[in-house]
Amino acid sequence: MAGGAAVEIEGLRVRRGRTEVFGGIDLTIPRGRITGLLGPSGCGKTTLLRAIVGVQRVDGGTVTVLGQPAGARPLRHRVAYGTQGGAVYGDLTVRQNLGYLGAVLGAPKGDVDRVLDEVGLRDQAGQRVDSLSGGQATRVSLGMALVGSPDLIVLDEPTVGLDPVLRVELWDLFRGLSERGATLIVSSHVMDEALRCDRLLLMRSGRIIADTTPTALLQDTGAEDPDAAFLALIRRDSRDAEARRPTTRRARREAGA
Ligand SMILES: Nc1ncnc2c1ncn2[C@@H]1O[C@H](COP(=O)(O)OP(=O)(O)OP(=O)(O)O)[C@@H](O)[C@H]1O
Ligand SMILES: [Mg+2]
Repeated sequence: MAGGAAVEIEGLRVRRGRTEVFGGIDLTIPRGRITGLLGPSGCGKTTLLRAIVGVQRVDGGTVTVLGQPAGARPLRHRVAYGTQGGAVYGDLTVRQNLGYLGAVLGAPKGDVDRVLDEVGLRDQAGQRVDSLSGGQATRVSLGMALVGSPDLIVLDEPTVGLDPVLRVELWDLFRGLSERGATLIVSSHVMDEALRCDRLLLMRSGRIIADTTPTALLQDTGAEDPDAAFLALIRRDSRDAEARRPTTRRARREAGA
């Protein structure tokens, strides 16, 4: 299984400040697919993505990415991370930001132009990032994750603040990237975007409450739309919670946490 997996997570435990975000997550993400990570604000999406790209301090368990420990040096060119809020220099132009990263990664010459076209920022290429509109700035962060044609693209809420037309275009772009063989992990709290993914991970309070597909999610819950399906899963999860909680506490005690 490991050969076919882009990401394998076993027993992941993460504490951030005083919050225990994950008490032991197990998870496999297949290669070449678009996996959506969905769940309410604060459930742990960003923390999980950070663990996958290797920038999150973890307190236990293993995260294996493309066969290597997360964050390992050989992964630096193969894994891209588009952060929520974006890690770009506001006082540089769009082209300078992309070009700088391209140089660091040793990307081919035409790469910046390819990315400018893909994210629809050709006309803003010479504009400083801090003068862009919110949606344009979001697309710069996304563009940063596309430079160098990485094998695994991890995007944290890439479509936040974008209009519906642009969102559709970007999802078409994600689909194109996956058809070319890239693996995408995309977080969102917009449930209708769930339908555009091949696989779905639904999170709640630091737990994966469903590892499914869009079709199976709707079938399993009998819901007509993904919002209703997610609410149904949350209700089901709450019903199960009492039975599960003592076990979890005992497991944590036994693990010495
Ligand atoms: N540096 C920190 N110190 C303490 N707690 C933190 C820290 N960073 C995150 N947390 C907590 O960890 C939990 C998970 O946060 P995370 O950012 O992963 O959520 P999220 O699902 O990405 O939320 P959102 O949809 O709002 O982006 C939250 O309860 C958050 O308050
Ligand atoms: Mg987040």
